[in-house]
Amino acid sequence: MVPTAAALEFVGAPTWSALSGKPVATDVWTGVHEVPHVRIGQEADLVVVAPATADLLARAAHGQADDLLTSTLLTARCPVVFAPAMHTEMWEHPATRANVATLRDRGVLVIEPAEGRLTGKDTGKGRLPDPDEIFEVCREVLVRGTTTLDLAGRHVVVSAGGTREYLDPVRYLGNRSSGLQGYALARAAAARGAEVTLVAANVTLPDPAGVKVVRVETTAQLRQEVVTAAASADAVVMAAAPADFRPTAVSDAKIKKASDGSAPVVGLTQNPDILLEISTERARPGQVIVGFAAETGDDTGSVLDLARAKLARKGCDLLVVNDVSGGAVFGSPDNEAVVLAADGAAVDVPRGSKAALAHVIWDQVADRL
Ligand code: CTP
Repeated sequence: MVPTAAALEFVGAPTWSALSGKPVATDVWTGVHEVPHVRIGQEADLVVVAPATADLLARAAHGQADDLLTSTLLTARCPVVFAPAMHTEMWEHPATRANVATLRDRGVLVIEPAEGRLTGKDTGKGRLPDPDEIFEVCREVLVRGTTTLDLAGRHVVVSAGGTREYLDPVRYLGNRSSGLQGYALARAAAARGAEVTLVAANVTLPDPAGVKVVRVETTAQLRQEVVTAAASADAVVMAAAPADFRPTAVSDAKIKKASDGSAPVVGLTQNPDILLEISTERARPGQVIVGFAAETGDDTGSVLDLARAKLARKGCDLLVVNDVSGGAVFGSPDNEAVVLAADGAAVDVPRGSKAALAHVIWDQVADRL
C-alpha cells in the first residue's frame, strides 16, 4: 500500500495500514535499509494506481521519482494499471491528454474514467469506476500474464442483452438474454487496451470499468446505436439477442381486457437484421464483424452445418456458435462454443468462463485486424 502525500489528506496512514494489514509508506526515507523505493516495484506482480490524479499522471508520464509511488512506478517491470479520477476539465486538458497518451504508448493500461457525479455538485466524465470493476480489469490483466495491450488504439463495439418490443406502455415481448457474455467481452476488451462502446439492451449488471455504456430497450434503438458506433469502430461484436419480431402496432394506452372474454390478436412485423446490415454495408474497410448463433441442429443439418450456413448468410467474419440442444446458456457464468471464421478456420472453446471465451474471441479478432 503506497499512498501519496495527497492521499493521506483524505485517509490517514493508520487507516490504510489497518484495512490492508500491510505496512504503509509514502516517502523514500522510511525503512531505507530495505531500499523500498526499488524493492516494492521489483517485487510487484501488478501495480494499480486508483484513483490516479491529474498530478500523478503528469509525474508518471515524465518519469519523476519524487516519492515512493513514482519511484515504484519507475522500477516496476510488471503490468501497470491506472484508474484516473478527476474533474472533467482536468481530464480533458491537453496536458492530461498528452500525459495519458504517453503512458498508453509505453504499454500502461489507463482505464477511461466513468461519467457521473463528481466530488462537487457537477457531473461529467472523470468519476472513478466502480472499485469491483477496477478489480475485474486487474484480474484480467493478471490472468493474461502479459502487458500486451493488443487492442490499444482500437475502438470496439459490443452489443449485449435482450431487446424488448412493446405492446403498450407496460407490456413487452422479450427474451432471456442476461447480457453476461457481452459484458465479459466489453470487460476483456477494456483490459486489452481498447476503447469500448457497449450497447446494452435491458441489462442490470454494473458498468464495466473503462467502458462507455449506451442503454437501449428496443431492436430499433439497438440498431440506431450500433450503426452510429460502428461508423468509427475497428470491430463490432453482436452478442445481443435482438427480438426478430415486434408488434405491428404499439398501443399508447394500456390494453384492457375485453368484457366478452376475448383476447387481443397481436400482429408481428419482422425487425431489421442488424448483423446482416453492418456486415453487408461495412462502415470501414477492414472492420471485423462477429456474430453469435445459438443452434440446436435439426433434420436439415447439424449444429455446425447450420452455423456455417448462417455465417455465409449474415456475411460476418466470425460466428460464435453455442450448441444449445442440451439446455440454454442464458444466465450461466460459463459457456462453451466453436468460433467459426469466414476463411474456414474453426476454434473449439471448451466449457469455461464467459471471460475465457471473450479472450478467445478477441484473440481471433486481433489476428484479423
Ligand atoms: N441479430 C441481429 N439482428 C436481429 C437478430 C439477430 O443483429 N434482428 C444478430 C444477433 O446479435 C446474433 C446473430 O444475429 O449475433 C444471430 O442471431 P439469430 O437470431 O440466431 O439469427 P437469425 O438470423 O434470426 O437466424 P434463425 O433463423 O436461426 O433465428
